[in-house]
Amino acid sequence: MESSYHIPVLLQEVVDGLKIIPNGTYVDCTFGGGGHSKAILERLNVDGRLVAFDQDENARENLPGDGRVIFVPHNFRHLQRFLRLHNISAVDGILADLGVSSHQFDEPERGFSTRYNAELDMRMDKRQTMTAFDVVNSYGEQQLHKLFEQYGEVTNAKTLARTIVESRKSSTIKTIDDLKNALRGIVKGNPNKYFAQVFQSLRIEVNEELTALRELLQQVPLLLKPGGRVAIITFHSLEDRLVKNFFRRGSFEETGEDPFTMQKEVNELKVITKKPVTPGERELKQNSRSRSAKLRIAEKLMMV
Ligand SMILES: C[S@@+](CC[C@H](N)C(=O)[O-])C[C@H]1O[C@@H](n2cnc3c(N)ncnc32)[C@H](O)[C@@H]1O
Repeated sequence: MESSYHIPVLLQEVVDGLKIIPNGTYVDCTFGGGGHSKAILERLNVDGRLVAFDQDENARENLPGDGRVIFVPHNFRHLQRFLRLHNISAVDGILADLGVSSHQFDEPERGFSTRYNAELDMRMDKRQTMTAFDVVNSYGEQQLHKLFEQYGEVTNAKTLARTIVESRKSSTIKTIDDLKNALRGIVKGNPNKYFAQVFQSLRIEVNEELTALRELLQQVPLLLKPGGRVAIITFHSLEDRLVKNFFRRGSFEETGEDPFTMQKEVNELKVITKKPVTPGERELKQNSRSRSAKLRIAEKLMMV
């Protein structure tokens, strides 16, 4: 099932890194095709439990029909709230494999891929109202400039923002082709790479991906049992930086100090992976989508 929906990345590294306790309780924040979940379940005994989150309802079709699994079709930013709802106050491990699945990417009408023409959508959670259409057609020039620069590291973000704002004055940018056509004259370098950066920025904005990740990370030390582990796979440097800083310092600041109080944040996590784990040659050959994956693992300290 998972091979057509999504090939799990760094599978062995994740399950080994989580140091799974057979009767433990684990959370897969990004169930997707269920590849990582399946491997976790294989290491759990009958008393083990797995809480699987995915904000995309489609992921439900991959559920294994296993009494040990609780599926939560919501954003992982509400992790603690939904765990409480299921009477779970602490867990032995948390996994997040960020971004979109191959399934989402390959479904033309979802609007995630530059390869197809479709409406500008890009929502992982279809219950959400804001789409990429809203971002492209209603954000101000400054807002667009900032998001293309920050989220896509697009070199000519300012020109890009101005071009969108000018273009939509004559007609609404409804589809992927409308957007690509509006940008034809300003593409820098390889068009595929350029559009990929533009799409990445829009996707991060539509799904508030960095905010959700920050909120998730802040809940991790509160929810892990002492000795419990967290494993996060990221696919771009913005996400990786948040994870790296938070694991190292318990804070998103580069210094680990609260800029207002100048006090050191208390860090309840110990870094297990000094450098991020990346896919080996074999995995890269078998799954080109694994190429930018970085796995970081941390452990909750026994006592702080
Ligand atoms: C890269 S895929 C995960 C693939 C999965 N590990 C597997 O083995 O098939 C990411 C999945 O997480 C979901 N997702 C991404 N961000 C999320 C969030 N903030 N809350 C809940 N689900 C999220 C997406 O809908 C997608 O299905």
